[in-house]
Amino acid sequence: MSPLSPVRFPLFHGASRVVPIALALLAGPAFAADTTAAEQLDRWSAQAGAPGRVDAGRSFFNRTHGSEWSCASCHGTPPTEAGKHASTGKRIAPMAPAFNTHAFTDSAKADKWFRRNCKDVVSRECSATEKADVLAYLLSLKP
Ligand code: HEC
Repeated sequence: MSPLSPVRFPLFHGASRVVPIALALLAGPAFAADTTAAEQLDRWSAQAGAPGRVDAGRSFFNRTHGSEWSCASCHGTPPTEAGKHASTGKRIAPMAPAFNTHAFTDSAKADKWFRRNCKDVVSRECSATEKADVLAYLLSLKP
């Protein structure tokens, strides 16, 4: 008997499994746009108590912080083209919003990757000031 057989799984059980999957598919692959890069810059600037600085963001992005990798190691520099993961070689979509309409449109995704990548590169979470600076830099990159 198949695991999805209606005899083993009454309708309401089956539906409770299928509906969330259907919703996830409708929401699109792996991200749900709920914000814009400009809104996220405002959010971090407000938390930092100062607007993001393009020059500070560029410098933060391109240099190492005591370990092997910089942000640019995976995202490329300037991050206007696809990056390449420094250890797996996997393609990474361009980070600069003018070159990638999906960049920074999902606040949970941005938070998750900032947390993870800052731990890899800076050995701690990035501060709101550092996030605002990086995003100000990324938003300054234009075709
Ligand atoms: C070891 C490789 C690696 C390094 C180094 C790295 N990243 Fe990433 N980063 C990734 C990958 C992989 C993704 C996910 C890309 C995707 O799924 O589109 C990502 C995504 C992100 C995102 C999400 C962007 C969005 O659209 O919301 C942010 C923010 C980010 N990285 C910031 C940083 C910062 C800041 C640094 C340096 C402190 C950094 N990353 C260094 C691999 C890396």
